[in-house]
Parts: sequence; C-alpha cells; structure tokens
Amino acid sequence: MNTEILSLIAEPLLSWYEANKRDLPWRRTTDPYAIWVSEIMLQQTRVEAVLSYYERFLATLPTVSDLAQASDEVLHKLWQGLGYYSRVRNLQKGAKEVCERFGGMVPSDEKDLLSLCGIGSYTAGAIASIAFGKAVPAVDGNVLRVLARVLADDRNVLDQKTKESMEIALKPAIPPSDAGNFTQSLIELGALVCTPQSPKCDTCPLAFCCEAKKQGLCAILPIRFKNNTKKEENKTVFLIESKDGILLHRRPSSGLLAGLWELPNVENHLSEAQAKEVLSEMGIKVQSISALPAAKHIFTHKIWNMTAFKVITKDSAPTPYVYASKEAVDTKYAIPSAFAAFMKEAFHETL
Ligand code: ADE
Repeated sequence: MNTEILSLIAEPLLSWYEANKRDLPWRRTTDPYAIWVSEIMLQQTRVEAVLSYYERFLATLPTVSDLAQASDEVLHKLWQGLGYYSRVRNLQKGAKEVCERFGGMVPSDEKDLLSLCGIGSYTAGAIASIAFGKAVPAVDGNVLRVLARVLADDRNVLDQKTKESMEIALKPAIPPSDAGNFTQSLIELGALVCTPQSPKCDTCPLAFCCEAKKQGLCAILPIRFKNNTKKEENKTVFLIESKDGILLHRRPSSGLLAGLWELPNVENHLSEAQAKEVLSEMGIKVQSISALPAAKHIFTHKIWNMTAFKVITKDSAPTPYVYASKEAVDTKYAIPSAFAAFMKEAFHETL
C-alpha cells in the first residue's frame, strides 16, 4: 500500500473545508475544555443531537474546575437523553485529574492527554490538534473510512493495529501550520462526502488521488468485521485450606466478575516451585501442596485456561484474604462458576 498518497491530501482538503464546513459551535473556540466536551459528546451521538446539549453543558459548567466540582444530579441532568452515561462520569474523572495534576489547565501534550480518564488516542489527537494546533493525528471511525478508501486499504478497520498504522501514516501528512483545520476537514469529509453509503465521489476533493475510486472499491471499503475469537488467558489457581476453611479473595468492584469472591489466582501457569514462591509472597506457609486437574472456563469474551494447586496451611488469613467455612461458602460468599471444578476438591480433608 502506498501511504505516500497522503502527502497530497492536505491542500485540496483544507480548501474544500474552508468552502464547505458546517458552522458548529465547537469550531468557534480554541478552548481545549470546550473541545474536549464536544469530542466526548460526539463520540456516539450525531452532530444535530449534540448541539443543544453542548451549549447547555458549557453554559452550566464553563470551566474544568466547574465540571470537577459538579454534583451527580447536575451531571445527570446535563447528559440525560445523550446516552452512554459513563462518558460523562469519565469526563468528570478526567476533569478532576486535570485540577489535581495540571492546575486546572487542560494539558497540550499528547501523552499527558492520554493519561487522563476517558481520553484515548482519537480524543487526545483531536484536542492536541484542534485546541493547540499540534500535528497529532485524530483517527475516528469517519477518518478511518476516508483513509481506507483513499489508500484502498482492505484491512479490518475494527482491528486496533489497522487504526494504529493509519495514525502513523497520517502523521507526516498533517500541515504543521494548520493541524486543527486538517483534523476537522477529514472528519467533515467523512461526515458530508465520504459517507458510509453512497459516497459523493463527484464532489470529493480527494477523488483525484483516491485509490478506492480508481479501483471501484468505494462500495466495499472500509472492511469492518468483529473478531469473534475469544482471548485466552492462562492462570494458576490456589485452593488453600486450613482448619478455618478455604482462602478467598474479593474481586475488584468493577470489571469481569465484579465484587464476587474468588480462589486466589495469578497469571500464567506456574510450576510447583514458582507456586511456592507466590504463596510465600502472599504470606502463606505451605504444609503440603499438590497439583489439581486443570480446568477451562469459557466466558462470553474470554477463556480462562486454569491449572491449580491444592495447598494445606495452618496459618491465619493474610490480608486481603478471608477464610470461608463450607457453610459460609454455601450461604455467604458468591463464588463464580469459573472456579467450580476446583471448589469440588474443597472440604474433603480433616484438618
Ligand atoms: N465528530 C467528531 N468530532 C467532530 C467534530 N469536531 N466536528 C464534527 N463532527 C465530529
């Protein structure tokens, strides 16, 4: 694929943008906070729907520190109807981080932006280029579509690696003196001309260098398919028993199996010697250790391949673990079925 085509796009794209851009409120400001808010709102919502929310949000919370201090009720009201409420929760977390770590000033550095809650590579690129004029690529779904067509790139655009390589290819094509308009012009072209269905190639400023147009591929590009293969993780699970019961650990309050109790486990398949080291780090003195039969658990999005050791100990539970008796396991502790194969091996010994 010849990514050098991209060196040709800036000039025609910027002229086209100047003549055809929509007059949108976030295009009348260079306030990085306002641009951040607009980009988060625009992530999963159409421009027309965002307009009134954007104006009201900034009228109510005009600065990062206003957002950082806003109550849940105010945030809820301002976002009600936009959907994907986690967006505004993350936005507020990010605003609190800006106040704590950057004195209330949205940073201009791409890495600093990426360190903020809710800001990924697209949003960081959009803020850095639109608000600060930095030559940082901002590649969202619209831009991916434009680039896949211009380059006749038939890789899966839903694959993170495709997106990363598009960002790398786009970077040298950004005019250093007009990075913000360049970002907006690609987004605008994707929204108005290089549309998912029936792209308007007749009026496209990039038609002269578009490989998909030349090869008749506009109707099938970009290629989008969800990867259904599940991620596999190898784990070593510990069934640790003392006279007080089996040792349990509470999973974090968010993510997979949030808040449930689990048998202690670590990444990777460990040898017995490695397992003993881990147990010692956990604060467990091993009286006896033996391998249990391996087990597999299939979740919707991932697979755990688990090996396991049964461990007998006399110690009391080190933090943050607890011992649970058979009765407590039956009545008090919710243990995910992923551990069922090993739970069958519990409470057989007389200790
Ligand atoms: N979609 C995402 N960002 C946008 C922007 N800055 N203008 C218009 N539509 C967008």
